[in-house]
Amino acid sequence: MRKWAGTLLALWVIAVALIVGFFYSQGSADLRGQDRQPIAFSHQRHAGELQINCLFCHRGADISPAASIPPVYVCMMCHRSLKAQTPETQKLLTYWNNKEPIPWVRLQRLPEFVRFTHQMHLNAGFKCTDCHGQVAQMTSTPRAATFEMGWCIRCHQRNGASKDCFTCHY
Ligand code: HEC
Ligand code: HEC
Ligand code: HEC
Ligand code: HEC
Ligand code: HEC
Repeated sequence: MRKWAGTLLALWVIAVALIVGFFYSQGSADLRGQDRQPIAFSHQRHAGELQINCLFCHRGADISPAASIPPVYVCMMCHRSLKAQTPETQKLLTYWNNKEPIPWVRLQRLPEFVRFTHQMHLNAGFKCTDCHGQVAQMTSTPRAATFEMGWCIRCHQRNGASKDCFTCHY
């Protein structure tokens, strides 16, 4: 009996891990936010199939506190000369022709009282995927992790980084 219980428990743990892993690889179990994006932009298409480097669009990531979302002209470097149009690329052209910025919805943002920069983490050798998940496979806005205090601290603990309150709080 005990042996069977152990096997069942092991199977259960594996099943839960698979389910959690699936949602993690999908970005998040919560995909409501994509509905609010003005254009259905796909990282899977651009960073995955077309293999555009993350830093080509998120130019600030290794040099300034904000990774930044690309302005319309970065999109138009390619889309100006792409012949095939879809309803979604039409929206892009409309913003460009009207000289309007695309009102992307920022889904994740740390509170003001938290100190964080990309630079120090990238310098320490981390990759985008360590914190944002497999973005190149995501068709909607990346949301791999919830940026909670425990998430930061667990990784700091694993890597021997500071857990002092004033490291992350002003
Ligand atoms: C062709 C330009 C482009 C490339 C290449 C690109 N991104 Fe993005 N990224 C965007 C745009 C536009 C948004 C805003 C729309 C959205 O969230 O889908 C965005 C949003 C994000 C966000 C979400 C910000 C938030 O919380 O709302 C993350 C994280 C991100 N990108 C990471 C990456 C990573 C990692 C890569 C490389 C694997 C990458 N991006 C490649 C254009 C790009
Ligand atoms: C150590 C974890 C970590 C790594 C590594 C990381 N990010 Fe982030 N990223 C975050 C956190 C946390 C935020 C939220 C920051 C905030 O709200 O100030 C964020 C926010 C963003 C955003 C939202 C917009 C902005 O201006 O900040 C984008 C885009 C982004 N990251 C892209 C990237 C790219 C591209 C890489 C790889 C070059 C990367 N990130 C690597 C943790 C990370
Ligand atoms: C390096 C070139 C390049 C850049 C930069 C780029 N794109 Fe694209 N984009 C493409 C190509 C190529 C396609 C695929 C066209 C096709 O499938 O016929 C595409 C497809 C698309 C589509 C259509 C997807 C669909 O199936 O309807 C949208 C929407 C889009 N891009 C938006 C953007 C936005 C917004 C930006 C800027 C944040 C951007 N692109 C930046 C090259 C680029
Ligand atoms: C993937 C692992 C990882 C995650 C997730 C992570 N960090 Fe870090 N962080 C590190 C490591 C490792 C260092 C030490 C880098 C070094 O010393 O070069 C560091 C350094 C820092 C520093 C600089 C400390 C100093 O000495 O100046 C701050 C501030 C910081 N992290 C804040 C955060 C916050 C806030 C979050 C969550 C939103 C976070 N980190 C998430 C791994 C991580
Ligand atoms: C590695 C980074 C890091 C360290 C170290 C850290 N915090 Fe935080 N803390 C955060 C982040 C990120 C948030 C924001 C979480 C969120 O928005 O859900 C936060 C939020 C908080 C909050 C607000 C809680 C809430 O629910 O809004 C308090 C209070 C707090 N931290 C206290 C502390 C104290 C006290 C220490 C030292 C024992 C500490 N923190 C150490 C990253 C850190």
